[in-house]
Amino acid sequence: MAQEKLILRALAGETLPTPPIWMMRQAGRYLPEYKATRAQAGDFLSLCYNPELAAEVTLQPIRRYGFDAAILFADILLLPQAMGADLWFVTGEGPRLSTITTAAELKALKPLGDIHETLNPIYETIKILKGALPSETTLIGFAGAPWTVATYMIAGKGTPDQGPAHKLKDENREVFSALIDQITEGTIDYLSSQIEAGAEVVKLFDSWAGSLQGADFIDFSIKPQQRIIAALKAKFPQTPIIAFPRGAGERNAGLHAATGADCIALDDGVDPTWAAANVQTGGCVQGNLASRHMVTGGDDLVAETRAICKAFANGPHIFNLGHGITPDANPDNVQLMIDTVRGG
Ligand code: CP3
Repeated sequence: MAQEKLILRALAGETLPTPPIWMMRQAGRYLPEYKATRAQAGDFLSLCYNPELAAEVTLQPIRRYGFDAAILFADILLLPQAMGADLWFVTGEGPRLSTITTAAELKALKPLGDIHETLNPIYETIKILKGALPSETTLIGFAGAPWTVATYMIAGKGTPDQGPAHKLKDENREVFSALIDQITEGTIDYLSSQIEAGAEVVKLFDSWAGSLQGADFIDFSIKPQQRIIAALKAKFPQTPIIAFPRGAGERNAGLHAATGADCIALDDGVDPTWAAANVQTGGCVQGNLASRHMVTGGDDLVAETRAICKAFANGPHIFNLGHGITPDANPDNVQLMIDTVRGG
């Protein structure tokens, strides 16, 4: 079937004259309209679980900028919450969760069949978006990759070095592996329901993949993602999947084949010329402008955006940042990036 949407064409392996573009955290605190809707919802989690308002903030960057993709407004920590962890956000600090470090705590989690009770509003958001998005815009669903989700479930918060998760991995492999397996199976169920509700693409965020070394990178970043992707591909062969192993560096080479993903998203620590020769040869790549350009703007933004487009011009490429846009970004710089990508 002929595929019209640019993001889907790039994900199918087509080299396009102008790369399609979207932006990680494109709905977020750098936008005044996001802050207004978040205030209306009360707090971040109430916004995530309010389908009308979550759809509204998903649409805001599409209306303002005409990105080629919309990413569902939700969070990777909703799955742990649905699995039975307590979750709350401390203003100015970030997420907090009840911790899982023992067999008893792991056993106290809910059966996976129950996760949808909590996550149903997320599927509702997707259904609203299917009716509201422009016909050329692709809807991306997402989840955290098991290692990254586990780092938050074990530590109960974000950590600079993922120390508590490494400690559990090294000192109690049985509990650690069982937790990874449980998140892996829950993620398959969660993403399957997102696809059934109407997500056209799904993305796995492995934001902390870079701290796994040697065999641990294979065993706990790659293998669980491979299992999720294989399970999804068996059920939904038409749905493209993006993997984002942030911090993987040169280990990004060969990851299309190793994970089964249609696209590898690159962070800004990866050199685009190197990645064109070593990663894009395996399929579509996404990325990878440093988010700081959305704060600083100017000639550097334009030059760097052009260099990335040029490096990836001979293969399938989706333009994006190397990580999420930050709250101190200037919305005008986002427009400058889009104009540079689309206008040369
Ligand atoms: O990209 C999008 O616009 C879609 C929505 C989305 C959010 N979080 C909304 C959000 C997505 C895809 C995520 C992914 C996510 N969440 C990741 C992986 C990607 C990454 O950034 O590395 C991680 C690690 C999380 C967990 C999380 N959520 C943290 C650590 C924080 C606090 C830090 C922060 O930026 O405030 C969040 C909160 C969060 N998730 C916000 C948004 C818009 C900010 C909440 C607010 O409005 O105050």
